[in-house]
Amino acid sequence: MNQTELKRMTLAVCDIAKSAGSYIKEERAKFSLTKVERKHAHDYVSYVDKGSEQRIVSALRQLLPEAGFITEEGSAGHDQEQLVWVIDPLDGTTNFIHQFPPYAVSIALMQGQQIIIGVVYEICANECYYAWQGGGAYLDGTPIHVSHQEIEDALLCFQLPYNSEAYKPTAKHFIDTFYGHCASIRMMGSAAIALCYVAAGRLDGYAEQYLGQWDFMAGGLIVREAGGSVTDFSGSTDFTQGNSVVATNGIIQQHILNAIE
Ligand code: IPD
Ligand code: CA
Ligand code: CA
Repeated sequence: MNQTELKRMTLAVCDIAKSAGSYIKEERAKFSLTKVERKHAHDYVSYVDKGSEQRIVSALRQLLPEAGFITEEGSAGHDQEQLVWVIDPLDGTTNFIHQFPPYAVSIALMQGQQIIIGVVYEICANECYYAWQGGGAYLDGTPIHVSHQEIEDALLCFQLPYNSEAYKPTAKHFIDTFYGHCASIRMMGSAAIALCYVAAGRLDGYAEQYLGQWDFMAGGLIVREAGGSVTDFSGSTDFTQGNSVVATNGIIQQHILNAIE
């Protein structure tokens, strides 16, 4: 796809993400805790995640019939297609259940191991972040760029993924290393939004492991196109097949990588 086609496709995906977001918003207004199911301990899902995914998949099938799918709730698959949509129909499910912003829809398009489109729609703030490969990153039509903050004044985001036993030492080490040595530390509850906040310069750096591809493909491209650095925990810029991400303004990338044992 050339730049014009990529841009057109990206804007069409923004409309699909916003429409899924409207569905999630409507369902949130009448949502009750009795509708929550458990995938594993503390990993929740509901009919809203699944309903959002069905809506997104059927709209994307019409937009690009030749593409396959990787989706968090598993309602569609892939089979050697050149183009694959990677979808988190509701990123921040725990936030959603607790009526605690942010939560988002995240959609990426991959061509082989390259991310060529990334769209993240934050439902409560009605903000749509998007990028296409080579075209820059945008928030509702306005170009966005990562910050220029040094580590001493950086606002960092570290999160608590579901694999608590495996990740606890890393999470503790991040807090030990940076608490008192940066501006402060936040947890967003949505990997996709943490990445978009880095892209927009609201956060200066973010790291997390034990992610699914649907959590960070779209946001990863948006950070890159906003001028930031994105690697996995080993420092490789080939992060798309792994389960970890470090995304920063570039200036503080090595500081975070140094804290990973
Ligand atoms: C989760 C969120 C959370 C992150 C977890 C993800 P979900 O996705 O992005 O912030 O810490 O690692 O799995 O389950 O809400 O779609
Ligand atoms: Ca997710
Ligand atoms: Ca999800």
